[in-house]
Amino acid sequence: MSQRHKIILDCDPGIDDAVALYFALAQPEIELLGITATFGNVPAAQAARNAIYLCTLAGRQLPVCEGVNTPTRKIGVLPDAEIHGADGLGNLPERRRDTYPPDERSAARFIVAQANAHPGEITLVAIGPLSNLTQALRLEPRLPALLKQVVVLGGSIAAPGNVSPVAESNIWYDPHAADVIFTAGFQLTMVGLDAAQHMAVPLALFERVAAQHRHPATDLLLHAARFSVDYYARLDPALARQQACLSHDVLAVMFVLRPELFSTESGRVRVATEGLAEGQTIMDRREHVLYPQAGWEEHIPRIRVCLGVDAPACLAWLESSLMGNWLPAPA
Ligand code: BDR
Ligand code: CA
Repeated sequence: MSQRHKIILDCDPGIDDAVALYFALAQPEIELLGITATFGNVPAAQAARNAIYLCTLAGRQLPVCEGVNTPTRKIGVLPDAEIHGADGLGNLPERRRDTYPPDERSAARFIVAQANAHPGEITLVAIGPLSNLTQALRLEPRLPALLKQVVVLGGSIAAPGNVSPVAESNIWYDPHAADVIFTAGFQLTMVGLDAAQHMAVPLALFERVAAQHRHPATDLLLHAARFSVDYYARLDPALARQQACLSHDVLAVMFVLRPELFSTESGRVRVATEGLAEGQTIMDRREHVLYPQAGWEEHIPRIRVCLGVDAPACLAWLESSLMGNWLPAPA
């Protein structure tokens, strides 16, 4: 395979982060260079531990670098253990011990080192708050030119938010970081709730995968999915009826490989950093500007925003990938 996608996964595992990681590991077209962990669904140290654990169960030893544990400017809040469990993986009943230590480099240093080693080749897939990438940009201001692209799971243009009426969680956790990243000149795509709200994954999918493909990694996914389905059932009667959970993060990985499954628009996107709209991603979709405003100048770079997704195709792809032959026999 000549053209594998070199990817760094910046994540806060997190149940849907685990799905995204395993989906990425199941793609022969992806060369996962490493994982950088951020706070978000859990503190950064726990996110790194979870990433290592997920890799270990899947028989891989990818570098995992611990990253930022607090937002860039706002005061941090503790994650809500109801959403992903106190451990981030749906409160696993037990954990194997044979894991490996985190990489000694910080997440930001790892991103910068890899970008310099492979200029123009790396896609950074960010499925947690954007704090690590902001720190990497501070260390290496040429990062927008050194990375091939950034795909962000976060934000929302027209869909309702999930932490407030207008804010999506990854952006809300560190809105200052998101505003820096969206305006820094990266070749960037935002895959937000406009697409992800359509990605309800039935528990039955994980049951079929775990039944057909008996393995500790697929058992973990099923356990975590059950936790997530119970959580969403308490929130949303439609998801309760379908026995399904939202699984946002995998869409960012899918976008890298098959952007044609998404409908997109491009424009300037800014992030509200305080007040009632804190964390809202605002896209300038005007055709005519009557009253020019500071902050929306022409020179501000445009990004690509996903506004829709072919959810049935993504679901089928998720299932066939997880059913595939991507896991070594358990140790
Ligand atoms: C995002 O927030 C987190 O809870 C999920 O892992 C996902 O990255 C969805 O809003
Ligand atoms: Ca996440």
